[in-house]
Amino acid sequence: MSLLPILRYPDPRLHKIAKSVSVFDARLKQLVADMTDTMYDAPGVGLAASQVDVHERIIVIDTSETRSDLKVFVNPELVWTSEERIVYDEGCLSVPGIYDGVERPARVKARAFDADGVVFEVEADGLLAVCIQHEMDHLMGKVFVDYLSPLKRNRIKAKMLKEERELNRERSRTG
Ligand code: NI
Repeated sequence: MSLLPILRYPDPRLHKIAKSVSVFDARLKQLVADMTDTMYDAPGVGLAASQVDVHERIIVIDTSETRSDLKVFVNPELVWTSEERIVYDEGCLSVPGIYDGVERPARVKARAFDADGVVFEVEADGLLAVCIQHEMDHLMGKVFVDYLSPLKRNRIKAKMLKEERELNRERSRTG
């Protein structure tokens, strides 16, 4: 099991745009396995490769209560989104401790490849629909706080930078 370090907002690397995966090889499978371990360990319901500083279109999601329904999306696309929208209180492993409402389409249909390169489609609503859209945003360099007002975003940025300084101080003290 390998845990990957998760980039923290406002790290500028979170705004890089991910490239499509073209080779479905052992390296991809290992990366997906490491991302999955990292998501479960955090714990979180979704993780995009962008968050572990790998700028390729790869997402892992598990919104089940039992942590037994892993979904791997490689090169995901939204093929349909509902007119109906919902506001969901979102959080993010790259912005720990922050939750705020984001409005998005309530239902989506996504098409992607699994880690073996087999194409599949999934229709989702509720948390899964939110999660797919949230993680796909990461691949476009977008973090959920980008949907909030500049005032809220600046407050969150300041809080995250302050925590970062405290963490660094702690690290240098403990050597
Ligand atoms: Ni996130």
